[in-house]
Formats: sequence, C-alpha cells, structure tokens
Amino acid sequence: MLAASAGLVAAIAALLGILIFAIAFFVVSLRSYQRQQEALAASQARAAGLPPPASRAAAVSRRDFFRRSLISSLLVFGAQFGGASIAFLWPSLKGGFGALIDAGDLGEIKSAVSSGEPFYVGTGRFYIVPYNGTPKGGVDYASEGVSGEGIMPLYQRCVHLGCRVPFCGQSKWFECPCHGSKYNQAGEYQLGPAPRGMDRFHMEVVGGRVMVDTSEVVLGPARGTDTIDQPPQGAFCVAPG
Ligand code: FES
Repeated sequence: MLAASAGLVAAIAALLGILIFAIAFFVVSLRSYQRQQEALAASQARAAGLPPPASRAAAVSRRDFFRRSLISSLLVFGAQFGGASIAFLWPSLKGGFGALIDAGDLGEIKSAVSSGEPFYVGTGRFYIVPYNGTPKGGVDYASEGVSGEGIMPLYQRCVHLGCRVPFCGQSKWFECPCHGSKYNQAGEYQLGPAPRGMDRFHMEVVGGRVMVDTSEVVLGPARGTDTIDQPPQGAFCVAPG
C-alpha cells in the first residue's frame, strides 16, 4: 500500500515539476513572441515612414514589474522544489529502500538461510531469516503477511534507538552493538532496552521471487512474544545491556 503511496507522491512531484517547467516555457515563449511582434510592427512602421509604435517594455509599470518578478520567483522556487522532490524520491522509484523489492529467488534464499545465517538484502535494509515458528499469544506472522514459505524479512534497524543490528554467528541471535539489545533468530525481543521485537515487512512470493514491501514498516511483536523457543546457541557477541 505504502509502496503505491510513495510512487504516487513521486509521480505527483514529477508532474508538478513538469507543469512548472511547462508554464515557465509558455511564459518565456509568449514574451519572445510579443517581442517579435513588436519588432515586426516597428519595421513595418519604419517602412511606411511612420513613427514606431510605443514598446510594451517602455510601458511596464512598477506594479507590473513587481508582479512579474514575483511570478518569476515562484516559478523558480517551484522548479527547484519539484526537482528536489524528484531527487529525494528517486530511490523509491527505482526500487531502493521504500519500494517493493525483489529480494531474489525463493529457492536460493531458502538454501542460503538453511545454513543458519540470515540472508541480507542491503538495498532493502532487511534480513531474511528462516521461520517455522508456532503462532502464540495472538501473534501469527503468516496471517499478518510478514512471513511465508518458511522465511521472514526483518528490518535491520534496532527498535531501541535505530542502530543496525548484526546477526551473531555464535549465539544465532541478533545482537545490537549500541546498547546490547538482543533478539532471537525470528527478531523477537530477548534482552536489553529494546521496547519490542524487531520490525518487519510484508512479503509475498510471486513467480518464485521473494517480493518484500519496504514502504511500510510493520511494528515488531511485543516483549514476551516467543514463537520459536530458541535459546542462545553459543556465546554472545555483545555483552548484554
Ligand atoms: S540502539 Fe540497539 S540497543 Fe540501543
């Protein structure tokens, strides 16, 4: 849904920019046409031995001058704003974070995560972890649309203060280096100051490709949620916070 919203905003920004440029082009063209007409009228008057008609430029009042200056300023501002908006939203248009991301072939991803390490997708800022947990306490990731086909994408951002959370190959948990928050392999809260489990994204498999919608962050499960009962598999990489 939000992928569509981001795309819509980007499209509106692009249309706005185009419209502003079109208006600016029209104004400049009109002014150029008026000058040509004035030059033509002056040359015709000279050929007929008549005094040249008064130039419009000469008749521009102070009020007209300020009005045109204001319009020009608004056009320039609008063009800059439109350009900046397009530049800002461009990653979403071309499939970066904030868009619907093709994470890869389902079979290849499942093969990669079968080793116990998450599959990392840097452009989308998320991990894909294996997931075959049991719904508990009203938490059912599959029905939420954040897991399926035995995998689940997790947003890399720590829900405490936003650090990137790496995966610890020893404990097989996600361990935040900033303040020591820890999450199990399903991104569920285990230890530290984090207020909930890691956030996640909606996903679906289309034509064998894993499509992850990074336009909407789905808040992680509440503390106490544990659908995989996974104790640490080894020593922690980060001392508990
Ligand atoms: S930012 Fe991760 S524990 Fe504080």
